[in-house]
Amino acid sequence: MHLPTLAHLCDLNDSIRNPFMTNGTYTLTIIKPDAFATGKAGRIIAHLESAGFKVRAARVMRMTEAQAGEFYAVHRERPFYKSLVSFMTSGTCMPMVLEKPGAVAALRKAIGATDPKEAEPGTVRKLFAESKERNAIHASDSDENAQRETRFFFPDAEILAAF
Ligand code: CMP
Repeated sequence: MHLPTLAHLCDLNDSIRNPFMTNGTYTLTIIKPDAFATGKAGRIIAHLESAGFKVRAARVMRMTEAQAGEFYAVHRERPFYKSLVSFMTSGTCMPMVLEKPGAVAALRKAIGATDPKEAEPGTVRKLFAESKERNAIHASDSDENAQRETRFFFPDAEILAAF
């Protein structure tokens, strides 16, 4: 019988504690306050499930100014930053971890362009978004950001519970 080495146990522990570190199967989405407030969350989730995504973790929350400011820090110098933080803290939102092979690219295709006027027919933003800012849904733009954004909303204990 082969006993597992300490290194093997550490690797195993890492991948169980944080499966997002190991491959590109997961991404982070947020149903934004415009969509949640107008009762579109259920239809958006159903739309994503029909496209093959599985919901692996979810929260219903209102972001604080500090949280929204940090989450969108990459846009700090953009003219729309203040308005974006104000919008994202204006009501309830729903961060979720979604699973699908090639999740990051698949979700960005499924939600469509930032501006719903430019989004392809059948995409979430074409169907449910109001404007370029109030655009119904967020999706991570890389595996690295999917991991960072997942950790932002879901501490390890919740990720473990979801699997
Ligand atoms: P999201 O995918 O969450 O990433 C950054 C967000 O900033 C984007 O969706 C929009 O909500 C918002 N945004 C991007 N560009 C603009 C813009 N030109 N004017 C207003 N809001 C924008």
